[in-house]
Amino acid sequence: MPPIKLHDKHFEIYLSEAEIQQKVKEIADKINNDYQDLNPLFISILNGSFMFAADLFKHLTIDSEICFIKLASYKGMKSSGHIITAIGLDQDLYNRNVIIIEDIVDTGKTLDVFLPKLHHQQPASLKIAALLHKPEATEKQITIDYLGFSIPNKFVVGYGLDYDGLGRNLKEIYQLTDEA
Ligand code: IMP
Repeated sequence: MPPIKLHDKHFEIYLSEAEIQQKVKEIADKINNDYQDLNPLFISILNGSFMFAADLFKHLTIDSEICFIKLASYKGMKSSGHIITAIGLDQDLYNRNVIIIEDIVDTGKTLDVFLPKLHHQQPASLKIAALLHKPEATEKQITIDYLGFSIPNKFVVGYGLDYDGLGRNLKEIYQLTDEA
């Protein structure tokens, strides 16, 4: 795939559509196996995880439910740590087997703030599925139960992830080029 330009920045291909789809299928297979008869409730964190959530959900063969919540505003290329709840969580989590769906765990600050709120509702279990993780960016340690790819600490776009609004539609994941 050729390099792309979004706003003022250049990006090069990092993960192909086939690599992503293969990994999403593998994660779904594991969840199908681990959650038989448990009717898990997925909570997809908007905006970035909508594509991962949709593809993952299509591969599930067990009874399962999904809801969407908006938590974070992410402007530009640095995680702000500033969280806004725009769409609330209306499901009762008590005694449910909950799986959070995140696009990427970067500093870990978002989930560090959000997870205690969920634990408060006493779910039977609470696990995390994240497509991407930047271990080098960790500020708050988060255990990712179902992880797609560990990636370097470089800004990425595509497959739901954006750079200032652009790039979410890309089927692949692109990485910021060094000369950008
Ligand atoms: P954290 O709180 O630093 O872990 O960041 C979580 C959120 O920041 C993710 O859900 C993304 O929406 C956003 N984010 C972090 N890194 C990137 C990136 O490389 N590209 C696009 N969005 C990112």
